[in-house]
Amino acid sequence: MPPSASSLLRLISRGVRQQAQNGPLRSLLRATSFNRTEAAPLVDVTSTPIPEITEVFPGLHTHESIYQFSLDHPEEFWGQLARSRLEWQREFQTVTAHEPEKAIFRWFPDGQLNVSVNCVDRHARQDPDRVALLWEKDEPGQEERVTYRQLQDEVCRLANVLRASGVGRGDRVALYLPVSPLAVTAMLACARIGAVHSVVFAGFSADALASRIQDAGAETVITADQAVRGGKVIQLKQVVDAAVAKCPSVRQVFVGSRTGAQVKMGPKDIALEQALSGEGTECEPAVQGAEDLLFLLYTSGSTGSPKGVAHTSAGYLLYAATTHKHAFDYQVGDVFGCVADVGWITGHSYVVYGPLANGATTVLFESTPTYPDPGRYWETVSRLGITHFYCAPTALRLLLRYEDDWVTRHDRSSLRMLGSVGEPLNHEAWHWFHDLVGEKRCTLVDTWWQTETGGIMISPRPSAPGAPVLPGMPMRPMFGVKPVLCDPNGGVVNGEGVGGALCVGSVWPGIARTIYGDHKRYLDTYFAPFPGYYFSGDGAYRDQDGHYHITGRMDDVINVTGHRLGTAEVEDAMMEHPDVAEVAVVGFPHEVKGEGVYAFMVLKKGTHASQDQITDDLKKLVRSKIAGYAIPETFLVCPGLPKTRSGKIMRRILRKIAADKPEELGDISTLADPSIVQTIVETHSKNR
Ligand code: PRX
Repeated sequence: MPPSASSLLRLISRGVRQQAQNGPLRSLLRATSFNRTEAAPLVDVTSTPIPEITEVFPGLHTHESIYQFSLDHPEEFWGQLARSRLEWQREFQTVTAHEPEKAIFRWFPDGQLNVSVNCVDRHARQDPDRVALLWEKDEPGQEERVTYRQLQDEVCRLANVLRASGVGRGDRVALYLPVSPLAVTAMLACARIGAVHSVVFAGFSADALASRIQDAGAETVITADQAVRGGKVIQLKQVVDAAVAKCPSVRQVFVGSRTGAQVKMGPKDIALEQALSGEGTECEPAVQGAEDLLFLLYTSGSTGSPKGVAHTSAGYLLYAATTHKHAFDYQVGDVFGCVADVGWITGHSYVVYGPLANGATTVLFESTPTYPDPGRYWETVSRLGITHFYCAPTALRLLLRYEDDWVTRHDRSSLRMLGSVGEPLNHEAWHWFHDLVGEKRCTLVDTWWQTETGGIMISPRPSAPGAPVLPGMPMRPMFGVKPVLCDPNGGVVNGEGVGGALCVGSVWPGIARTIYGDHKRYLDTYFAPFPGYYFSGDGAYRDQDGHYHITGRMDDVINVTGHRLGTAEVEDAMMEHPDVAEVAVVGFPHEVKGEGVYAFMVLKKGTHASQDQITDDLKKLVRSKIAGYAIPETFLVCPGLPKTRSGKIMRRILRKIAADKPEELGDISTLADPSIVQTIVETHSKNR
């Protein structure tokens, strides 16, 4: 159904507000205060008891005291939690052995544990019939339940298959799978035998999959015949075939059955169901060092190829479990509905590892927010009795365009907690989610974190169930997290009502340990910009009340529908076109996607192809090199790009043009050819 007139009006007013919110950091650095028109009275959160933590630390009763303790005594704090929350094969004696100058971080280095035992066996032992996975398949009403007992059986069976096929400790296994019990089982089966999984989002192209397989040196791939999403069939196996053809390192591909379609099987392919049927349900877990790799997850950076962010076992698991428990006030019996794809970090930490470490029932959502209609999320909430609903702002911005009735016709009384992640949650989406979906009675938490942080870092209720929540910001740091704002010269920005580069001045257990195969890049990216601190790449603002607002990326990473995308990746793909001489890609505010991709390009002289033809080719190229979501909204052919006299492209100027703010171009007199700017502005205006 198309949006109503009133929702169109809302869209327009939101566009204006969003542009203000999504503006680059510079403008926010100048701001002195944020509007607190909707501010709830600020209650002292220090008085709220947190029983689960007090159990472990009898002397600490309030959030304030626990938070301070976690910063002052990280070893004691995380050491105690690790002992009480995780099951160890060998208990650790040492809590940390960091070498900060080399950006080497080690948590519980002499401890041993197995992540799959922590996520499955111990719950299967205690409560075998508790539902672990609630698989919400693409077609509504076909959900499947997997108990902890069943999950243990399936994890062991698959772990046995992998072991029998020569997969051992430290071997990398690429997973290219739909959101399904098989994806979770495969992740945990790797963990059981000490292999390292590298899940690649099943929307990535064959080329993107191939480059990730190669970078990880994976010899084994697990995929499925097909995927189904939003009623559409995706030929997963075909994509894998095309990728594997470019990866000589791959020696075997396990093919699971999602739809049962007949797919072509080659010499490296093994039918997974058949292999599983020959294996038993007992599998001795590998004895893993706490710092052994658990997984790699590739994410975009500002330059070059995606980085294999590497997470290790105990610290990551502890952090995912602790944040899942406290940021969401998770209680036994809750049905945790994080609708992220398992191919992203949100899926890793809050579909799989955090919830399962806590023995939760976790929802696997295979579909889309609008299939078969815009009420899908809320119909699912009602049918499955979901208590926690965690999603991305882009989905909310899409859904609020439709009539309220798509929400209200479904019973949402099971909901207690709402969460958002991945991009700024603008005020309109916040209110729609909180007021309409959550009937103003559910808590809504805007959580800020990253692939590299492993788990939630800043969130309105890091522990205290009663803390007031304000719209449009993640507000408060989690335990053990000390946010620091830095200025471009490296100094720390103190006080309130200030902005800066968002850094972290403490070491938390979930921090990524390296970029796979490139520790120097890890050091240079996260620790060199502001020595002594982890630099997130984001800007932030600390308001008069000490609450944190995220102002967006400070580098050339853009955030499209909650997915990180390096502008350099898109440029590299486009430059492969024979008619393209030069290209510069920037992000611009987009009312549904958060940011859209805008490509400015210069064509080679003497090209005979039409612009439409070239644009079509470029779309195909970007889709085949990266993924559909990376395709630019706009391709603008320009006679040249704005450059400094030393030849550097002035992206700042292109960002302003793409954002329709030519009046904010600032000083362009230092450009090699200032007149080019006027030409680009005019071409842009004609093109709109
Ligand atoms: O720019 C921030 C944005 O998403 C980036 C991290 O992306 P990724 O590693 O893909 O992980 C996304 C899910 C954890 C951050 O650098 N981001 C994430 N959460 C928020 C956010 N921006 C604003 N508000 C948030 N709550």
